[in-house]
Amino acid sequence: MKYTYIANWKMNLSYAESIDYSIHNQHQLKALSQDGNIILCPSFVALAPIIEIFKNSTVSIGAQTCSEYQSGSYTGEVSAQSLAEMGVTHCFVGHSERRIYFRETTDKIIKKTNLLLENNIQPIICIGETQEQFEQNATLTILTEQLRPIIESIQHTDKPFMIAYEPIWSIGTGVVPESSYLEEVFEWLRKLTRSHRSHYSIQLLYGGSVTEKNISLLKKISHIDGFLIGNASTRIDEFARIIGATHT
Ligand code: PGA
Repeated sequence: MKYTYIANWKMNLSYAESIDYSIHNQHQLKALSQDGNIILCPSFVALAPIIEIFKNSTVSIGAQTCSEYQSGSYTGEVSAQSLAEMGVTHCFVGHSERRIYFRETTDKIIKKTNLLLENNIQPIICIGETQEQFEQNATLTILTEQLRPIIESIQHTDKPFMIAYEPIWSIGTGVVPESSYLEEVFEWLRKLTRSHRSHYSIQLLYGGSVTEKNISLLKKISHIDGFLIGNASTRIDEFARIIGATHT
Protein backbone atom coordinates (compact mmCIF):
# COMPACT_ATOMS: atom_id res chain seq x y z
CA MET A 1 0.00 0.00 0.00
CA LYS A 2 1.04 3.59 -0.57
CA TYR A 3 1.36 5.27 2.82
CA THR A 4 1.08 8.99 3.46
CA TYR A 5 4.08 10.65 5.14
CA ILE A 6 3.56 14.11 6.61
CA ALA A 7 6.66 16.04 7.61
CA ASN A 8 5.80 18.43 10.43
CA TRP A 9 8.79 20.74 10.66
CA LYS A 10 7.06 22.85 13.34
CA MET A 11 9.36 25.81 14.15
CA ASN A 12 12.38 23.49 14.15
CA LEU A 13 13.58 24.55 10.70
CA SER A 14 14.06 28.25 10.06
CA TYR A 15 13.04 29.92 6.78
CA ALA A 16 16.53 29.47 5.30
CA GLU A 17 16.86 25.92 6.59
CA SER A 18 13.47 24.94 5.15
CA ILE A 19 14.38 26.29 1.72
CA ASP A 20 17.85 24.73 1.83
CA TYR A 21 16.35 21.36 2.75
CA SER A 22 13.84 21.60 -0.09
CA ILE A 23 16.33 22.70 -2.73
CA HIS A 24 18.99 20.17 -1.81
CA ASN A 25 16.64 17.23 -1.41
CA GLN A 26 14.07 17.97 -4.10
CA HIS A 27 15.15 15.19 -6.47
CA GLN A 28 15.29 12.61 -3.72
CA LEU A 29 11.89 13.67 -2.35
CA LYS A 30 10.31 13.62 -5.81
CA ALA A 31 11.67 10.11 -6.37
CA LEU A 32 10.47 8.99 -2.91
CA SER A 33 6.99 10.29 -3.68
CA GLN A 34 6.61 7.33 -6.04
CA ASP A 35 6.66 5.10 -2.94
CA GLY A 36 4.56 7.25 -0.63
CA ASN A 37 2.39 10.36 -0.59
CA ILE A 38 4.71 13.01 0.81
CA ILE A 39 3.37 16.19 2.37
CA LEU A 40 5.88 18.76 3.65
CA CYS A 41 4.64 21.23 6.25
CA PRO A 42 7.00 24.18 6.73
CA SER A 43 6.11 27.37 8.60
CA PHE A 44 3.97 29.99 6.82
CA VAL A 45 6.84 32.11 5.54
CA ALA A 46 8.48 29.21 3.70
CA LEU A 47 5.29 27.94 2.02
CA ALA A 48 5.43 29.98 -1.19
CA PRO A 49 9.04 29.23 -2.18
CA ILE A 50 8.66 25.54 -1.31
CA ILE A 51 5.44 25.26 -3.32
CA GLU A 52 7.43 26.71 -6.24
CA ILE A 53 10.26 24.18 -5.77
CA PHE A 54 7.83 21.23 -5.85
CA LYS A 55 5.41 22.48 -8.49
CA ASN A 56 4.61 19.89 -11.18
CA SER A 57 5.61 17.11 -8.80
CA THR A 58 3.67 14.71 -6.57
CA VAL A 59 5.15 16.19 -3.38
CA SER A 60 2.40 18.19 -1.64
CA ILE A 61 2.78 21.15 0.67
CA GLY A 62 0.74 21.65 3.84
CA ALA A 63 0.37 24.40 6.43
CA GLN A 64 0.72 23.98 10.19
CA THR A 65 -2.36 26.04 11.10
CA CYS A 66 -4.76 28.67 9.73
CA SER A 67 -7.11 31.32 11.03
CA GLU A 68 -10.50 30.36 12.40
CA TYR A 69 -11.89 33.45 10.63
CA GLN A 70 -12.73 33.70 6.97
CA SER A 71 -11.26 37.21 6.48
CA GLY A 72 -11.18 40.58 8.19
CA SER A 73 -9.20 42.60 10.69
CA TYR A 74 -7.30 39.84 12.46
CA THR A 75 -3.73 41.09 12.66
CA GLY A 76 -1.15 38.39 12.12
CA GLU A 77 -3.57 35.68 11.00
CA VAL A 78 -3.49 33.72 7.72
CA SER A 79 -6.77 32.64 6.14
CA ALA A 80 -7.60 29.27 4.63
CA GLN A 81 -8.45 31.16 1.44
CA SER A 82 -4.92 32.61 1.22
CA LEU A 83 -3.42 29.18 1.78
CA ALA A 84 -5.56 27.72 -1.00
CA GLU A 85 -4.62 30.54 -3.37
CA MET A 86 -0.95 29.75 -2.72
CA GLY A 87 -1.38 26.08 -3.58
CA VAL A 88 -1.45 24.58 -0.08
CA THR A 89 -3.32 21.26 -0.17
CA HIS A 90 -3.35 20.18 3.51
CA CYS A 91 -3.40 21.87 6.93
CA PHE A 92 -3.20 20.67 10.54
CA VAL A 93 -5.95 21.51 12.97
CA GLY A 94 -5.90 20.74 16.68
CA HIS A 95 -2.26 19.70 16.95
CA SER A 96 -1.64 19.16 20.66
CA GLU A 97 1.00 21.92 20.66
CA ARG A 98 -1.66 24.34 19.35
CA ARG A 99 -4.20 23.07 21.88
CA ILE A 100 -1.73 23.41 24.78
CA TYR A 101 0.25 26.56 23.92
CA PHE A 102 -2.28 28.53 21.84
CA ARG A 103 -5.60 27.50 23.37
CA GLU A 104 -6.96 25.90 20.24
CA THR A 105 -10.36 24.74 21.45
CA THR A 106 -12.80 22.35 19.78
CA ASP A 107 -14.89 25.35 18.77
CA LYS A 108 -11.92 26.91 16.93
CA ILE A 109 -10.95 23.57 15.40
CA ILE A 110 -14.48 23.18 14.00
CA LYS A 111 -14.34 26.67 12.42
CA LYS A 112 -10.91 26.02 10.92
CA THR A 113 -11.89 22.59 9.62
CA ASN A 114 -14.95 23.98 7.87
CA LEU A 115 -13.05 26.89 6.32
CA LEU A 116 -10.35 24.54 5.07
CA LEU A 117 -12.88 22.22 3.46
CA GLU A 118 -14.69 25.16 1.84
CA ASN A 119 -11.34 26.09 0.31
CA ASN A 120 -10.62 22.52 -0.80
CA ILE A 121 -7.73 22.05 1.62
CA GLN A 122 -7.65 18.69 3.42
CA PRO A 123 -7.73 19.20 7.19
CA ILE A 124 -5.45 16.92 9.18
CA ILE A 125 -7.38 16.68 12.44
CA CYS A 126 -4.99 15.85 15.29
CA ILE A 127 -6.26 14.09 18.40
CA GLY A 128 -4.57 12.44 21.35
CA GLU A 129 -4.66 11.85 25.09
CA THR A 130 -2.28 12.98 27.83
CA GLN A 131 -0.11 10.60 29.84
CA GLU A 132 -2.50 10.88 32.76
CA GLN A 133 -5.55 10.09 30.63
CA PHE A 134 -3.69 7.14 29.13
CA GLU A 135 -2.88 5.81 32.59
CA GLN A 136 -6.53 6.16 33.57
CA ASN A 137 -7.57 4.10 30.53
CA ALA A 138 -9.54 7.11 29.28
CA THR A 139 -8.08 7.23 25.76
CA LEU A 140 -11.18 6.27 23.79
CA THR A 141 -13.39 8.57 25.84
CA ILE A 142 -11.03 11.49 25.22
CA LEU A 143 -10.70 10.75 21.52
CA THR A 144 -14.49 10.56 21.20
CA GLU A 145 -14.85 13.92 22.96
CA GLN A 146 -12.26 15.50 20.67
CA LEU A 147 -13.44 13.99 17.44
CA ARG A 148 -17.20 13.64 17.52
CA PRO A 149 -18.18 17.35 17.41
CA ILE A 150 -15.70 17.98 14.58
CA ILE A 151 -16.90 15.09 12.45
CA GLU A 152 -20.53 16.01 13.12
CA SER A 153 -19.87 19.55 11.93
CA ILE A 154 -18.67 18.28 8.57
CA GLN A 155 -21.37 15.71 7.95
CA HIS A 156 -22.74 17.78 5.07
CA THR A 157 -19.60 17.41 2.96
CA ASP A 158 -17.98 14.37 1.45
CA LYS A 159 -14.64 16.08 0.92
CA PRO A 160 -11.66 14.07 2.11
CA PHE A 161 -9.88 14.69 5.40
CA MET A 162 -7.36 12.99 7.65
CA ILE A 163 -7.31 12.11 11.31
CA ALA A 164 -3.94 11.91 13.04
CA TYR A 165 -3.86 10.03 16.33
CA GLU A 166 -0.95 11.43 18.31
CA PRO A 167 -0.71 10.44 21.98
CA ILE A 168 0.66 13.58 23.67
CA TRP A 169 2.97 11.45 25.80
CA SER A 170 4.56 10.12 22.64
CA ILE A 171 5.24 13.40 20.80
CA GLY A 172 8.93 14.27 20.97
CA THR A 173 9.60 11.81 23.80
CA GLY A 174 10.95 8.79 21.95
CA VAL A 175 8.19 6.67 23.48
CA VAL A 176 5.81 4.85 21.13
CA PRO A 177 2.73 2.95 22.33
CA GLU A 178 2.67 -0.84 22.29
CA SER A 179 1.50 -2.36 19.01
CA SER A 180 -1.47 -4.08 20.66
CA TYR A 181 -2.61 -0.73 22.02
CA LEU A 182 -2.33 0.93 18.61
CA GLU A 183 -4.20 -1.96 16.98
CA GLU A 184 -7.06 -1.38 19.39
CA VAL A 185 -7.17 2.40 18.93
CA PHE A 186 -6.99 2.26 15.13
CA GLU A 187 -9.61 -0.45 14.84
CA TRP A 188 -11.88 1.68 16.99
CA LEU A 189 -11.09 4.80 14.93
CA ARG A 190 -11.83 2.99 11.68
CA LYS A 191 -15.20 1.81 13.00
CA LEU A 192 -16.06 5.29 14.26
CA THR A 193 -15.23 6.99 10.97
CA ARG A 194 -17.05 4.32 8.95
CA SER A 195 -20.21 4.85 10.98
CA HIS A 196 -20.06 8.55 10.15
CA ARG A 197 -18.94 8.41 6.58
CA SER A 198 -19.65 4.99 5.13
CA HIS A 199 -19.36 6.33 1.59
CA TYR A 200 -15.92 7.78 2.01
CA SER A 201 -12.64 6.52 3.35
CA ILE A 202 -10.96 8.92 5.74
CA GLN A 203 -7.20 8.54 6.06
CA LEU A 204 -6.00 7.58 9.53
CA LEU A 205 -2.48 8.56 10.54
CA TYR A 206 -0.25 7.80 13.50
CA GLY A 207 2.09 10.45 14.93
CA GLY A 208 4.48 10.56 17.89
CA SER A 209 8.21 9.73 17.89
CA VAL A 210 8.13 7.93 14.53
CA THR A 211 11.73 7.01 13.65
CA GLU A 212 13.60 4.71 11.31
CA LYS A 213 13.88 2.29 14.25
CA ASN A 214 10.17 1.83 14.95
CA ILE A 215 8.63 2.40 11.52
CA SER A 216 8.72 -1.27 10.43
CA LEU A 217 6.73 -2.23 13.49
CA LEU A 218 4.29 0.62 12.99
CA LYS A 219 3.69 -0.41 9.39
CA LYS A 220 2.43 -3.76 10.63
CA ILE A 221 -0.51 -2.16 12.43
CA SER A 222 -3.86 -2.49 10.68
CA HIS A 223 -5.90 0.55 9.60
CA ILE A 224 -2.97 3.00 9.60
CA ASP A 225 -2.83 4.88 6.29
CA GLY A 226 0.17 7.03 7.07
CA PHE A 227 2.39 8.83 9.55
CA LEU A 228 2.93 12.29 10.93
CA ILE A 229 6.61 12.75 11.51
CA GLY A 230 8.12 15.62 13.47
CA ASN A 231 11.75 15.49 14.47
CA ALA A 232 12.85 12.64 12.20
CA SER A 233 11.47 14.41 9.11
CA THR A 234 13.96 17.26 9.53
CA ARG A 235 16.78 14.81 8.71
CA ILE A 236 16.48 13.73 5.09
CA ASP A 237 18.38 10.45 5.46
CA GLU A 238 16.14 9.28 8.25
CA PHE A 239 12.99 10.55 6.53
CA ALA A 240 13.98 8.61 3.39
CA ARG A 241 14.60 5.44 5.40
CA ILE A 242 11.19 5.79 7.06
CA ILE A 243 9.51 6.01 3.67
CA GLY A 244 11.58 3.15 2.28
CA ALA A 245 11.10 0.82 5.25
CA THR A 246 9.19 -2.39 4.64
CA HIS A 247 6.93 -3.91 7.26
CA THR A 248 8.72 -7.20 7.62
P1 PGA B 1 7.67 13.87 16.73
O1 PGA B 1 6.45 14.91 16.44
O2 PGA B 1 7.73 12.94 15.55
O3 PGA B 1 8.88 14.74 16.86
O4 PGA B 1 7.32 13.15 17.98
C1 PGA B 1 5.26 14.45 15.91
C2 PGA B 1 4.26 15.58 15.84
O5 PGA B 1 4.16 16.41 16.74
O6 PGA B 1 3.51 15.70 14.86
